[in-house]
Amino acid sequence: MIFSPQRPRRLRNSPALRQMLQETQLLARHLVQPIFVDETIDAAVPVASMPGVQRHPLSAVAEVAQNIARTGVPAVILFGVPRHKDDKASSAYDAEGVVQQAVQRMKQRVPELLVMTDVCLCEYMSHGHCGIVEGGQVLNDPSLELLAKTAVSHAEAGADLVAPSDMMDGRVGVIRSALDESGFSQTPMMSYAVKYASAFYGPFRDAADSAPSFGDRKSYQMDPANIREALREATLDLEEGADILMVKPGLPYLDVLATLKDNFDVPLAAYQVSGEYAMLKAAAEKGWLDEEKAAMESLLALRRGGADLILTYYATQVAEWLQHV
Ligand code: PBG
Repeated sequence: MIFSPQRPRRLRNSPALRQMLQETQLLARHLVQPIFVDETIDAAVPVASMPGVQRHPLSAVAEVAQNIARTGVPAVILFGVPRHKDDKASSAYDAEGVVQQAVQRMKQRVPELLVMTDVCLCEYMSHGHCGIVEGGQVLNDPSLELLAKTAVSHAEAGADLVAPSDMMDGRVGVIRSALDESGFSQTPMMSYAVKYASAFYGPFRDAADSAPSFGDRKSYQMDPANIREALREATLDLEEGADILMVKPGLPYLDVLATLKDNFDVPLAAYQVSGEYAMLKAAAEKGWLDEEKAAMESLLALRRGGADLILTYYATQVAEWLQHV
């Protein structure tokens, strides 16, 4: 015997045994489909940098919801493109705002579909930042009240879960109190707890028309160099009442996800962001990658890394692919 009696390959020869021993599963029930709803259009508009993704008009969202529910994907997360932007993000917390209307229409048509809303101000601010701007600075505390109003208005419209993505300090606690005081103590919160200042959000900002008009988001989103800071952010959000913690982006931050999994006993979500999606699409279009295999492997890796839920633009596509594997 020249090496150990262990031969790991013994367990890899039979397809049946390989399948029985799979440690991780990727199923439709783990997925959340992001949806862009645009108040300014009457027909769907494709997002150039995200092939297969569209901005939908309000008139189409009920049908969109129905089609998603039919695939077996249980949840959506909504992003709004409003008609009106200003320097206090008024449309974000307008009872008749684009997200509020979309939630109502979707829940009315498909009550069983879980409707999540992204709680942020960037799409609604004329300057595209996630908080109030004064003298070129993004102010933290004055922004909290607007975020809380936004979350409450989403819950009032019928949102099943709210997901703050702005990265202001203290927002989870302020939103939690506001929800509780407004009678929504049972509305769960998934915080974008660990959100990095990432170049991989580029295509999303085309889709949501939310690129900052000056500067960048580094004064509020995290430095990609840091992981101990991720533990601090996660700890704070849990103390403030978050129910699910998200790591974003996904694949480039698997170590962060795994570290959170080791340190916290709460459900975790990972966001396969627009740039990750765009990379797969572009390589597939060139014929350089097998899109289905590469996408499924990326998403399985997020599950293995610790994600209970995955937000991905591939959600309904994955549900279809899973029908034939
Ligand atoms: C809003 C928000 C962003 C994303 C989710 N919520 C953009 C940003 O922070 O600039 C990015 C999602 C993606 O890239 O797919 N703040």
